[in-house]
Amino acid sequence: MNEPVVAATKPKLVTLKQGRPYLWCTCGRSQQQPFCDNSHAGTGFEPLRFKPERSGDFLLCQCKHTGDAPYCDGSHNNLGDGYEEASEEEIAASAHFPVTPRDGVEVGKALLDGGCYVRTVDPDALRQQGNIAWSPMIAPEDGANCLALYYLEARDSSDSGADRAIMAFPGSHVALFVLEGEGEIHISGRTFPVGAEQGVYIGADEAFSIEPSTGSGTLRTTITICPQCEEPRWLDQMPENFNAELDERVFAFDPAKREPMADRFYQVLIDDNTGGADMTQFLGEVPKSRAAGHHHLYEETITILSGEGYMWTEGARAAVKPGDVIFLPRRQQHSLECTSEGGMRLVGVFFPAGSPAVNY
Ligand code: FES
Repeated sequence: MNEPVVAATKPKLVTLKQGRPYLWCTCGRSQQQPFCDNSHAGTGFEPLRFKPERSGDFLLCQCKHTGDAPYCDGSHNNLGDGYEEASEEEIAASAHFPVTPRDGVEVGKALLDGGCYVRTVDPDALRQQGNIAWSPMIAPEDGANCLALYYLEARDSSDSGADRAIMAFPGSHVALFVLEGEGEIHISGRTFPVGAEQGVYIGADEAFSIEPSTGSGTLRTTITICPQCEEPRWLDQMPENFNAELDERVFAFDPAKREPMADRFYQVLIDDNTGGADMTQFLGEVPKSRAAGHHHLYEETITILSGEGYMWTEGARAAVKPGDVIFLPRRQQHSLECTSEGGMRLVGVFFPAGSPAVNY
């Protein structure tokens, strides 16, 4: 069979009705992308008839190389000349954007367009609970609708004399990520060793505590909560309600599981297959570059692990460095620029679950 024509290297955002039949163009020749206009006649291609399972917005593939037809699965990023980078016009038009200052001296929030922001942990603002020092970084009052993010650091409770703090987010799923250190996480009666750059899933209604290994210093983490929970609930005792149906809880970087996205990579650590939650946690690797402005249908939290650069929105930018947290609202135009020769590594968590490669 002939190769389909690449109608466009981005998906089309369309609003569809549940149960209604649609014909998706498979040949790429239709002038009414992403739908069929009968241009396939004589090509050997036939349109794909489908009925959406819900009403709402969808990203339909226009490159015709998706593995999840008719929906975009991010395959368009691997076509042509590589990941789409900012054009000379886009770079020239934004060259005068000043770097947005923080609302504190070198810490706090740098607010960009549409409620997007970059925040640096303020060590003087950390709250203390037992062996945990913590700070909300993304919360409902920041404009987040689906996700909340906390920075947590744990000290050795035998060393500090503080009790091991036990926290819970009733009804919410938790994706924890270890930024630095090694130790143990206790989840509702089970104990798992954890180390740097590992993701941990904690189920709704479970509780957890974290502790660094003796003599190893501080265990630094972020946790993303979905759905949002205003404040952690601190418990006196660890409940014994570990959900044994989800036995595997710690997910580490594995080069064999890296997915290419042109000259970038990502690895999904937690999603609706490995955890019970409708959210995705992934590790991303970005070379020195500036992506073209793009959008996602999901709400996202991003934590920078290494490398420096800028978070851009349509009319502003903020500097980012390791440890910074970014809040990205749904549909907000943005691009992340890495200015470090060695590239940038990050961890992202977004709702609803899906592929980090899907953008428009
Ligand atoms: S547009 Fe075809 S996979 Fe995204």
